[in-house]
Amino acid sequence: MKIDKLKQIRDNILEEIKNSQTLEIIEANRIKFLSKKGEIPELFSKIREVANEEKKEFGKILNKLREEAYDLINNLKSSFNNTEEDKIDLSLPGRNIPVGKYHPLYKMRDEIKQIFRQMGFSVATGPEIETEYYIFDALNMPEWHPARKITDSLYVDKDSQLLLRTETSSVQIRTMEKTDPPYRIICPGRVYRNEKENATHTAMFMHCEGLYVDENVSFAELKGTLLAFFKVLYGNETKVRFRPHYFPFTEPSAEVDVTCFKCGGKGCSLCKNSGWIELGGCGMVHPKLLENVGVDSEKYTGFAFGLGIERLTMLKYGINDIRDIYENDLRFLEQF
Ligand code: DAH
Repeated sequence: MKIDKLKQIRDNILEEIKNSQTLEIIEANRIKFLSKKGEIPELFSKIREVANEEKKEFGKILNKLREEAYDLINNLKSSFNNTEEDKIDLSLPGRNIPVGKYHPLYKMRDEIKQIFRQMGFSVATGPEIETEYYIFDALNMPEWHPARKITDSLYVDKDSQLLLRTETSSVQIRTMEKTDPPYRIICPGRVYRNEKENATHTAMFMHCEGLYVDENVSFAELKGTLLAFFKVLYGNETKVRFRPHYFPFTEPSAEVDVTCFKCGGKGCSLCKNSGWIELGGCGMVHPKLLENVGVDSEKYTGFAFGLGIERLTMLKYGINDIRDIYENDLRFLEQF
């Protein structure tokens, strides 16, 4: 056989394999060309009939043909298999792709921000590692106050008087230091205390501080502001009440309660049958604080308040254990 003839046969074989349209035809062509008694082995036996000087090239072409035919068939087969398997079945139900959600605590924080923004408050921030000056001295905390002890507060270094802030009230001082009055800010942020954890306490939690200082600010405005806030948060029926209290940084000071939004004030397990739920502390900014930052306490007055964001969250969503908020258990988080 001549080389030219072989080349023609080769081209025909490859063409025929390429044109295989189904898996069955591919398999039939494999048998036809590559099996023991197939056409390609048959061609090898023809080497005997080839002129001596052409034998080498003849063999080369045949070897290459066998390789190409083999690869071609394998590739065709695997491409057929894939398309069979990957065929899209439009009747199958879709797979759920998990979607991230807002954490309930941050939902509450953002809701608080939103409500106070609408009343003209802006959001202030401050460092979480503070000096004793901003946490205690400037806030009029007496020398003997237990919060100054390492048993109550988490000190980074007692000698250099650095500690993790125990309240966001420090941001009141930082805000007032920076500019002149009026001030109308809230500061939601993390605070830290040396607490043993239980269902109502964690060593890290979130506070939202509020401060409003201007000429002629009165206690009535404090009441009106908090009442408006709680009505948006817990419903228009909500009432507030103020109980006298003591805070070093306010005078007079009060604790603020709202009517229980579960029973409407009648008394239930949530409010321990009192009809009221305690939600924060507040008062009129102590004149000493204003003087500490060089604000004229004769001309300016103001109010301040502090709210626990976990407590607001737990009450709103019916969460019984504060630790659930921080454990990142998906079974808990997926409910919100
Ligand atoms: N810092 C107080 C606390 O840790 C909360 C608070 C009470 C903040 C009264 C205030 C305030 O600004 O006026 O419980």
